[in-house]
Amino acid sequence: MNIHPSLHAALGMLLAVVCGAAAAQASPGAQPTGTIEERLSVILQDPQQLETYARMGQKVSLFCANCHGDGGNSVKSDVPNLAGQNPTYLLTQVRQFADGSRRFEFMERLIKAMSVDERLGVAVYYARQPVNPQPVRDAALVAEGKKYYDKVCWRCHGEQGRGSESFARVAGQQTAYLTQTLQHYRSGTGSRVNPLMAANTRQMTDADLRAIVAYVSSMR
Ligand code: HEC
Ligand code: HEC
Repeated sequence: MNIHPSLHAALGMLLAVVCGAAAAQASPGAQPTGTIEERLSVILQDPQQLETYARMGQKVSLFCANCHGDGGNSVKSDVPNLAGQNPTYLLTQVRQFADGSRRFEFMERLIKAMSVDERLGVAVYYARQPVNPQPVRDAALVAEGKKYYDKVCWRCHGEQGRGSESFARVAGQQTAYLTQTLQHYRSGTGSRVNPLMAANTRQMTDADLRAIVAYVSSMR
């Protein structure tokens, strides 16, 4: 995707304003301990903390909405939805951007500027947002994609594509993003290499890929 230069310039300033205000509001009280995953599971089990973090996440998400859309339903086909994403998966991706194992320069800079609380906040906020699935444009293609999905992909991403802690939600994801991501896994040349996804895309023809994208993006 092309990022407007003004967005780059605004990054530092906006983050300081949005995230600074959000952090001040969160006031988590006693100093929390443990890994970020351990903290997430504590937050998910505590309705009060969940509300606090979701509210903070919502504030931070105003900046993310420039690309990921309101409530994490992207309006750009090559930018992924974050709505309905599993919070643990989301944090894993955030970590991968931060440590450079997943490359996308803008996201790397952005994530590095975020505190641990802000990362937790966006993860729990987006997880609770409903996903707007993509419309079905070609029912025959969708049916073909479903056959492939039900043979191969469901084992990890779930029968309904809703994912889990280790596997991404894919249901309702943006079409250009899905296409690009699957092509990158298949060729092993992209900014993202994963042995499980490489193994599961190697046999995929371009026709298979189109059908899978049509089906997955329309899943609810
Ligand atoms: C300038 C546009 C832009 C902004 C602003 C932006 N992102 Fe992103 N983000 C992207 C793009 C593009 C990708 C996909 C990168 C790729 O193809 O690997 C992405 C990917 C992600 C992913 C991985 C999603 C997945 O399904 O694997 C997460 C998580 C994420 N962004 C979180 C955020 C958060 C949180 C914010 C706000 C604090 C934010 N992004 C702001 C453009 C943006
Ligand atoms: C053996 C488990 C496994 C199977 C089977 C599998 N995947 Fe995945 N998939 C993963 C893992 C693990 C990731 C996360 C990799 C990463 O962090 O880059 C992933 C990531 C993805 C992503 C990126 C999600 C995002 O939000 O960026 C898409 C899209 C995807 N898989 C689609 C598929 C499709 C379509 C199939 C069937 C052809 C499939 N997967 C089969 C394990 C699997």
